Amino acid sequence: MKNFDTEEVVKGYYVSTLSSSNDLKTTACCDLDDIPEYVKDISPLIADEIQMKFYGCGSPIPLHLEGCSVVDLGCGTGRDSYIVSKLAGEHGKVLGIDMTNEQIDVARKHINTQMKAFGYENKNVKFVHDYIENAAKYVNPGSADVVISNCVINLTEDKERVLDDIFRMLKNGGELYFSDIYADRRLPDEIRNNELLYAECLGGALYINDFIRLARRAGFNDPRIMTSREIEITNKKVQNLVGNARFYSVKYRLFKIDGLEDACEDYGHVAIYKGGLKYSENKFILDEEHVFEKNKPERVCGNTALMLSESRFRNYFTIIGDFDEHFGAFEDCGGKIQCKEHVDNTDKGCCC
Ligand SMILES: C[S@@+](CC[C@H](N)C(=O)[O-])C[C@H]1O[C@@H](n2cnc3c(N)ncnc32)[C@H](O)[C@@H]1O
Repeated sequence: MKNFDTEEVVKGYYVSTLSSSNDLKTTACCDLDDIPEYVKDISPLIADEIQMKFYGCGSPIPLHLEGCSVVDLGCGTGRDSYIVSKLAGEHGKVLGIDMTNEQIDVARKHINTQMKAFGYENKNVKFVHDYIENAAKYVNPGSADVVISNCVINLTEDKERVLDDIFRMLKNGGELYFSDIYADRRLPDEIRNNELLYAECLGGALYINDFIRLARRAGFNDPRIMTSREIEITNKKVQNLVGNARFYSVKYRLFKIDGLEDACEDYGHVAIYKGGLKYSENKFILDEEHVFEKNKPERVCGNTALMLSESRFRNYFTIIGDFDEHFGAFEDCGGKIQCKEHVDNTDKGCCC
């Protein structure tokens, strides 16, 4: 428990203290390299007011969302929800949830103009004003293809419950694809209880290895890192408050797939990307460690074989092999030491 009201602090900060992302005290919000081309292409269609109040720490928008049902937890003014709305197409469905009225009001205000800008006759996006802890009220179990979230879970008090709920709302084969802030250590009380640090998405940041533990406990057995970068603290006061703790913005992909193991095991699988995915014709990036060139056979662990054959990417891969015979740990993945100095070396799930 914090010694302040987290909801009041967060709402006050994002509504009254900040006028735009330029007022943030770290570089959490500013990483153009993390934005895929297919998102950059859509950005000019999004209203300025929505973009001005974008407070994400990454670009958690995966490929191949056509026709998908997507939930955006802590959608703010809806920038990511609208990008996904365009990528999902008129037959897709997007639900944005946020607890701050003023943010949701901005998101809702632009629905008609955004649908028009995308050339849609029917709305495919809806925004609800509520806590993400109540998301299960709006999303049936096993109904979401993808859950996204951008710099929000660090602000929630019961992260275990949030991850459990997300696991429940996803279909088998679905994924949580999200950006958030993590620390290189378990933060001391003086950081966790500081209102400014909490509002800046630092005080509530999980130690990265504790996040992996929570994710696995929820059922996401093999979290995969898409991108990661250290956050620069640009404000002297905040630098002094955080001391030696270091913070990272990490984009994770967590599949909900029956049979995923907590380590990479070798069953002799081979995966071949057939090409054909829009915006990714010649190579497919599963995660930062797994890039598949079109038509090039790659040896993969059992978990990777499942991610490619049981998810919405299944039609774009040929997977050779089964789980009948086990050949040991996959290459150098077995028994890896955790808790290295920082995220670049830490446990990335497996196959790293
Ligand atoms: C750092 S901002 C990010 C907003 C948005 N994802 C974006 O990229 O612009 C954090 C957002 O999370 C929302 N939020 C924090 N805790 C929440 C909770 N428990 N339930 C719903 N929304 C929450 C805040 O209202 C705020 O809009």
